[in-house]
Amino acid sequence: MSWPPKSPSGLIGAEIAGYRVERELGRGGMAVVYQAKDLRLGRTVALKLLAPQYTRNDAFRRRFTQESRVAAAIDHPNIVPVFEAGEFDGLLYIAMCYVSGQDLRALIDQEGRLPVAVALRMAAQLASALDAAHARELVHRDVKPGNVLVAKVVDSDHPEHVYLTDFGLAKKSLSLTGFTTAGEFVGTLDYVAPERIAGRPVDGRADLYSLACVVHEMLTGAPPFRREDQLELLWAHQYDPPPALSEERPDIPAAADAVLRRALAKAPDDRYDSCLEFVAALRDAVAEPVPRRRTPTAVDRVPPPEPPSWARPFLI
Ligand SMILES: Nc1ncnc2c1ncn2[C@@H]1O[C@H](COP(=O)(O)OP(=O)(O)O)[C@@H](O)[C@H]1O
Ligand SMILES: [Mg+2]
Repeated sequence: MSWPPKSPSGLIGAEIAGYRVERELGRGGMAVVYQAKDLRLGRTVALKLLAPQYTRNDAFRRRFTQESRVAAAIDHPNIVPVFEAGEFDGLLYIAMCYVSGQDLRALIDQEGRLPVAVALRMAAQLASALDAAHARELVHRDVKPGNVLVAKVVDSDHPEHVYLTDFGLAKKSLSLTGFTTAGEFVGTLDYVAPERIAGRPVDGRADLYSLACVVHEMLTGAPPFRREDQLELLWAHQYDPPPALSEERPDIPAAADAVLRRALAKAPDDRYDSCLEFVAALRDAVAEPVPRRRTPTAVDRVPPPEPPSWARPFLI
């Protein structure tokens, strides 16, 4: 086969740097991710290849090579481990741990809004991964459901495990960003923080904003700002107040509205200091009010009424 191949689907069955390509797992803005077999170790991996049309573009090449370095630098249970990265016959690749499951985009498309407890557990794992990146002064800059992998349930003690992936846009905190850099905003604008739109320096709080958009979507089925037109969407991120979560999802206490509002504040200084702080505040806000203990009275000691006869066979 000649390299780079004209069509990524033409790669099925091909051998690249010791990996046999088996099937396509997904694709984002600039890469295609395949399930592949590591022929040396016999294990299944996810092999990410820079799309052929980008291999000759220096900016994309740099971005792709950097991705593997960034992800490999953070050893965290909610960040996909990178095995190796390199170039093979002019084709850039990253071999990483294969996550059996689906991405959060597919899960939300399939299920709609998620149960509150599930959304909170996933949010806490993503928050932990992001805080670990931020502790190294790295900003992910592309937090969105398509970049969250949801692993298949292993056992009931660990009902879900999510991974943050795709560090292709990650940068050091406070670097200036705008719309001009090659490869930026190839996808959706649904999760982008106002300071990025304005071209101001970004830090971890931009990821916190995006995480809050993802949390809003997990809980309601849609991101906070939905507009027909891209420019209107950019305007909304910068100037419009976010909708109240409890209006879109009445089973969530109104106390959660203030938490989302703070995480989605237009100015980074008005947001939480860390992603885990945001998720902890959200968890407190949605928690059932704890019934206050009081001394039992005579009324409490009255035996409960007999269950109706139809219910008796079910009572053990
Ligand atoms: N390690 C992995 N295991 C399984 N599927 C993956 C893995 N990494 C990525 N994918 C799938 O491939 C898609 C694109 O991967 P991503 O890294 O986001 O590429 P891009 O940089 O092109 O956006 C993801 O949305 C996901 O569905
Ligand atoms: Mg992606």
